[in-house]
Amino acid sequence: MHELVLPGHANALGTAFGGTVMGWVDICAAMAAQRHSRMNVVTAAIDAVDFFAPIRIGHVVSLKAMVNHVGRTSMEVGVRVESEDPLTGERVHTMSAYLTFVAIDADSRPSEVPPLALATPEERLRHAEAQARRRQRLALAGERRRLAAEHR
Ligand SMILES: CC(C)(COP(=O)(O)OP(=O)(O)OC[C@H]1O[C@@H](n2cnc3c(N)ncnc32)[C@H](O)[C@@H]1OP(=O)(O)O)[C@@H](O)C(=O)NCCC(=O)NCCS
Repeated sequence: MHELVLPGHANALGTAFGGTVMGWVDICAAMAAQRHSRMNVVTAAIDAVDFFAPIRIGHVVSLKAMVNHVGRTSMEVGVRVESEDPLTGERVHTMSAYLTFVAIDADSRPSEVPPLALATPEERLRHAEAQARRRQRLALAGERRRLAAEHR
């Protein structure tokens, strides 16, 4: 997916708002999850992200999403974001993010998704790394739920 950074996307410094970029990341990743599952999906979680470099007005944002892992009803999608100066072609890696989507049925209940076909060693490695992240993510989410319940 590509986006051109316009003044409405930017702050007073002339660089894109982080929230605007996150919105594009969410949409790009959702399309990948939807195309894998062929179902409606909701964003369940977005892992912590770091913005490495600003993206200037007039630059092109290029987002590439890939489904790394599929659970029973959830999918981890990785998104790599690069900005490109359209006048020079210079590209900079500005951020990466991991998002978890859950496929839902017509009653908004989590619904089983098809498995991922892992064809190459790179895809198998990506899948194993995603599985490790999933374990950590669910442990942290459980801890947050426990803390929130304590403060209710
Ligand atoms: C995401 C949602 C459907 C999960 O519902 P739930 O009742 O917790 O469902 P389950 O416990 O059956 O879990 C379903 C899947 O979600 C995963 N999941 C749930 N919470 C998660 C979290 N915080 N992080 C990562 N995965 C999560 C579970 O691991 C499970 O995956 P699996 O089937 O592959 O093992 C529900 O919390 C929801 O609708 N949230 C709001 C989503 C939304 O509106 N997003 C837009 C932002 S406003």
